[in-house]
Amino acid sequence: MRKLIVGNWKMNGLRQSSEDLVGGILAGLPAGADVGVVLCPPATLLAQVAEIVKESPVEVGAQDCHPDASGAHTGDIAAPMIADAGARYVIVGHSERRSDHGEGDALVRAKAEAAMASGLRPIVCIGETAEQRRAGEALSVIKHQLAGSLPALSQADSLVVAYEPVWAIGTGDTATPADVEEVHALIRTALRSGAGEAGNQVPILYGGSVKSSNASELLATADVDGALVGGASLKAEDFLGIITAAAALA
Ligand code: PGA
Repeated sequence: MRKLIVGNWKMNGLRQSSEDLVGGILAGLPAGADVGVVLCPPATLLAQVAEIVKESPVEVGAQDCHPDASGAHTGDIAAPMIADAGARYVIVGHSERRSDHGEGDALVRAKAEAAMASGLRPIVCIGETAEQRRAGEALSVIKHQLAGSLPALSQADSLVVAYEPVWAIGTGDTATPADVEEVHALIRTALRSGAGEAGNQVPILYGGSVKSSNASELLATADVDGALVGGASLKAEDFLGIITAAAALA
C-alpha cells in the first residue's frame, strides 16, 4: 500500500508561517514519489492551505470535527465546513483531544461517522498511556479503543487508523519497531474481522516522535502504512526527510 504521511500542526501556525512552510514542502517534494501527503493545519488556515496546494498532490486535513453537521455549538467546527474549506481528511480522537477535552470513544466514533457522511476520511487515533503500558495493559486498551472508536466498517475504504502511544507523543521517545508491529498486527486483525478483505486496505499510521532519523525503520515495520507527524511536520526540511524516507520504501 502507498505510504501516507500526515503532518499534524496542532495549535501552531499563522498565515505567513503557514505560507512559508507549505511553500517549502511543495518546493522540496521528491519528484514522482508514490507517497500520500496530508497537511493538517489549525482550522483558521484550512482554506488558505487548501488553496496553496490545490495544483499539487498534497491534500489537507483538519484536526477535529463536531459530530453534528450544524447547530448551536459555539466554537466547534462541523465536518461539512471542513469539506467546504477544501480538506479531505480529519483527525479524530487524538490523545490531546481525549485528555484536554475529555473526549471518549463514543464521541470519537460519532465524529468519525460525521466525517464520513461529509465525504471526509477520518484518521481515528488510539494509543495507550505509559502507565497502561507499564501495567501490561497496552493491547487490551487498544482493543477496547478500537471497539469503541471505530465507525461502522462498511465504509472501511474511507477510514485511516493511527496508533499513537501517548507516552511517545512530543517526548522524543518512540515505541520499538517490535512494539509497533505487535499493536499494528492487532489493529489489522480487528479491521479484517470487521471489514473482511477491505480491512487490509485501511492505512494504519504510527505516530509519536517520528522524525527523519527514525522514519525509515518505523515505516519499514510490518503493517505500518504511514506516519502521523507532529513536531517534525513544522519544519519543511524535517517533514520532507520523512516523506523522502517513505518514498524510498515505495
Ligand atoms: P509528535 O506528535 O510527532 O510531536 O510526537 C505526533 C502527534 O501527536 O500526532
